[in-house]
Amino acid sequence: MCGIIGAVAESAIKPVLDGLGRLEYRGYDSSGISILSNNEIQTIKARGKLNNLKQRLSMQALEGKCCIGHTRWATHGKPNETNAHPHQCGQVSVVHNGIIENYLELKRKLVQWGHHFNSSTDSEVVPHLINHYLSQQMTQEEAIEKAITQLKGSYALGILINGSSNNLYAIKQDSPLVISQGNNGFYMASDAMALGADSAKIYYPKDNEIFQLNSHEIKLCGNSINKKIHYINNQNSAKLISKEGHNSFMEKEIFEQVDLLKRLSVNSHANKYSTINFKELKKITIIACGTSYYAASVAKTWFEKYAHILVEIDIASEYRYRSPIVTDNELAIFVSQSGETADTLAALRYAKSKKAQTLALVNVANSTIAREANFTFEIYAGPEIGVASTKAFSCQLAIFYKMAIEAAKQRELINNAELKQLIFSFAQLPYIMEKVLQRCTDMKAMAKKICKYSNVLFLGRGALTPIAQEGALKLKEISYIHAEAYAAGELKHGPIALLDEQMPVLVIAPKNNLTDKLLSNIQEVQARNAPLFIIGDKSIREYINLQEDDFFELPPMPEAILPIISVIPMQLLALYSAQILGKNVDQPRNLAKSVTVE
Ligand code: G6P
Repeated sequence: MCGIIGAVAESAIKPVLDGLGRLEYRGYDSSGISILSNNEIQTIKARGKLNNLKQRLSMQALEGKCCIGHTRWATHGKPNETNAHPHQCGQVSVVHNGIIENYLELKRKLVQWGHHFNSSTDSEVVPHLINHYLSQQMTQEEAIEKAITQLKGSYALGILINGSSNNLYAIKQDSPLVISQGNNGFYMASDAMALGADSAKIYYPKDNEIFQLNSHEIKLCGNSINKKIHYINNQNSAKLISKEGHNSFMEKEIFEQVDLLKRLSVNSHANKYSTINFKELKKITIIACGTSYYAASVAKTWFEKYAHILVEIDIASEYRYRSPIVTDNELAIFVSQSGETADTLAALRYAKSKKAQTLALVNVANSTIAREANFTFEIYAGPEIGVASTKAFSCQLAIFYKMAIEAAKQRELINNAELKQLIFSFAQLPYIMEKVLQRCTDMKAMAKKICKYSNVLFLGRGALTPIAQEGALKLKEISYIHAEAYAAGELKHGPIALLDEQMPVLVIAPKNNLTDKLLSNIQEVQARNAPLFIIGDKSIREYINLQEDDFFELPPMPEAILPIISVIPMQLLALYSAQILGKNVDQPRNLAKSVTVE
């Protein structure tokens, strides 16, 4: 992952530091900058969060017109200052996002040529290679071109060279990169969101095009720029900074969901969904990672139930390695908040190579996945900063719900009354969600109890099994409490062996046709003295004896929207547990929001 940024502007350090703040979601174990100051490359790095770097920089008055910066998520080499980027060799300094897969081989060769390495990263080979070719009297462009022909793997690179002219170069292969022209300077970054208000024009480079940013222009080396220019809304980046009075971005994003769903239910994108011919489809395959995968798992239940379409779901990192069968009339849907997840992107490319029709469901409109799919639907969640995904999940579900209705309509498998009911249920959604959020203090009480344990088992049934899985994922991601989830019927096939006084079980228990079966599972839990917590319908309490704090009531609601509503208490539980335990809610250890490496 990692975030990279570069600027050629008056006081280039400011846009770079501001951009690093916006890129921290890609990694935050160390950061660093290189700046061309008084004809010398100055590199300053610090371990830990960006604030540590800022503190260091505040102690020295560095100025310059050419600057690159990096925020790291460690792949090769521990998260320490030596391994932090930029990496420098002679007059070449480099920031890198991606993985150089053949770095050991290259390093061996460079050591034989007399190069000395400081870090244990894969990235450090890049400045060494460029420097090597520069020392052979190649021009800057030639040296970069020659160096990248040696690299295997994925990379987005920002390269600063202190030479007869001072230039910043940017180049990518299979990693995200944007190039931007502003009124006051030229920029490059991992994504458009990192760029500040000065950047209006955005270029999306193709693999291995070498861009030179100098004080006069952006030059595509060897060619003139003749590319499609995408305009971004500059307001987005400015708005990002604010938590709007909340303790964390995640908290803000959880409470924002009501408004987002109100907007989604009023805004009919029905015309867009009708561009897909669901009638002729034989199969839908939905592919994603992490939270987006759980959205796919819920979507499967809706497509099957309402539109009678065969749906296969897969984890992106598995899909292309298992020789999947792509049939005629198959729609492959790729779900990704960021639109940049390397595994999901690779799976999309695989499906396209097998001639599947591809659809991207993304939050970031101009992301790589959005640009490469045949169709793209946005989820309109707005920028999500908390690393643990919340509002993107409910918006993904909302769009899937609408798609399933459209599919059912086209396949004429639903009568008018049922259709009206599904639409009406969707319109109620934000108001029911509001009621759940109003009970957030009840969840604080439950979190207080749950976070005393080291393990939690989550149970659900049907479309709520993926919600239990999402709940377990949220809890472990930000509170570091070990949590697993099962379909409740699976309890007796193994996990029941874990139950004792130290293994709390949290059950999502709505009132529906499976309630009786679920009640039996709950009895099995209580019989083994495992502490029981329930998120469920009021009526469940008639059957189960529970303390006030151990029950979170879900308001009455139509069955169809249960998954979208019942994830809210799960998100709150994770949030409050992490808060009580004093963890960093927005930037949990070892994680990054956008995973652009395999
Ligand atoms: C990372 C994030 C998760 C996210 C997953 C998929 O692991 O930490 O929160 O669900 O990537 O990301 P995507 O952007 O493709 O939805």
